[in-house]
Amino acid sequence: MSKLWGGRFTKETNKLVEEYTASIQYDKELAEEDIEGSLAHVQMLSECGVISSADMLEIKRGLNIVLENIQSGEFEYDVSHEDIHMNIEKALIDEIGPVGGKLHTGRSRNDQVATDMHMYLVKKVKLFISHIEAVQQAIVKQAEEHVETVLPGYTHLQRAQPVSFAHHMLAYFWMFERDKERFQDSLKRTNVLPLGAGALAGTTFPIDRHRTAELLGFEAVYPNSMDAVSDRDFILEFLSNASMLMMHMSRLSEEMVIWSSQEFQFIELDDSFCTGSSIMPQKKNPDVPELLRAKTGRVYGNLFSLLTVLKGLPLAYNKDMQEDKEGMFDTAKTLDGALKLLAPMIATMTVKTENMKQAVNEDYSNATDIADYLVNKGMTFRESHEMIGKIVLYSIQHQKYLLDLTLQEYQTFTPLFEEDVFDILKPANVMNARKSYGGTSPEQIKVQLELANHHLKVKESV
Ligand code: ARG
Repeated sequence: MSKLWGGRFTKETNKLVEEYTASIQYDKELAEEDIEGSLAHVQMLSECGVISSADMLEIKRGLNIVLENIQSGEFEYDVSHEDIHMNIEKALIDEIGPVGGKLHTGRSRNDQVATDMHMYLVKKVKLFISHIEAVQQAIVKQAEEHVETVLPGYTHLQRAQPVSFAHHMLAYFWMFERDKERFQDSLKRTNVLPLGAGALAGTTFPIDRHRTAELLGFEAVYPNSMDAVSDRDFILEFLSNASMLMMHMSRLSEEMVIWSSQEFQFIELDDSFCTGSSIMPQKKNPDVPELLRAKTGRVYGNLFSLLTVLKGLPLAYNKDMQEDKEGMFDTAKTLDGALKLLAPMIATMTVKTENMKQAVNEDYSNATDIADYLVNKGMTFRESHEMIGKIVLYSIQHQKYLLDLTLQEYQTFTPLFEEDVFDILKPANVMNARKSYGGTSPEQIKVQLELANHHLKVKESV
């Protein structure tokens, strides 16, 4: 079949070259954006007097037929037309005849593809923001139910200090809040129109790029045509924000895997979110958080791959840039799957409060509090730290926890100890005592929950 750019060629394209240079296999995902962009483009061309209004109407009619064929699955993508832009243009000309050839007036595939991808990402980023909110809602719901649920907090994966389960979960709320803000912020750089930049230098036709922007809902127009067709930083920003979000989801997933192990038994994931083993009948595997953890790798990979594609490219468009798409689509698909599963997985998990409580009763995570206790009785913190270390060692050697020692035993270390030390040592009191702003005491968590709910409401009303 003849090429839309065949004029200066004397030979047919080698089949292998056709295959190698085509992007239609994956850029067909941009079909709707491409047509939406074209509809606005011809509208603007006719308003500016570049094409007649009859031609504009005919092209729009044709484009809508092509769109219907694409949506119904009837459209036949042809690798010999290389990419989505030329597949659509060829189909349009087949549908309405030579007048379809006026569509490409005053534009190039270079500004066209950039426009499609901007439109695609604006839509996706808005969608992901709402998906993140659903995860945050699920977190808040669990947190509200578990303000008083105490479990060991860890550093180095060693028991450190008791914390509230709500506090632990809300830590992720704020990570996701920042992820959301980063996506939100990226929109002002993504919602910018490249169309009208032409191949690289602008166009001789009297077009109105701001009108196209208005028709497509873009907030701004790229002020430099070479920049508009050359950079892919808006995709890199998306991939980078996606990487951070995946990293946060992956850490939470890791905790879900650990917490649901037999060793911890802090949570149980709902049956509907787990899978079994083909050989071991007793198994209930946390495949979803495991896969989410693993898929983080491909999102990072996509970021690095595009950074590397771009790093040595001279201005303006280079064919290398066609490699910007698969990683973007793959990342969007990966994020979509992860976010959609994470929210219900959190909402449906069972929190085993008794096991958490037992865990804090069987560790030394209240040690800091007796160190603070002695400080309040006049000892320096360093001195007290040293002494409590010795008391912990003594307890381990006598197979006891700090709450099991008698007052006499405590007083052999220092007479500063009194009966009230036992109250201080209770895990719930240890947790309740951390009343500093942002701490794990229930009263602080309530402050935090109020703020979290406020953030969710503000976003909803935007
Ligand atoms: N399929 C191409 C891409 O995605 C569209 C732009 C092609 N431009 C060109 N001058 N060959 O990058």
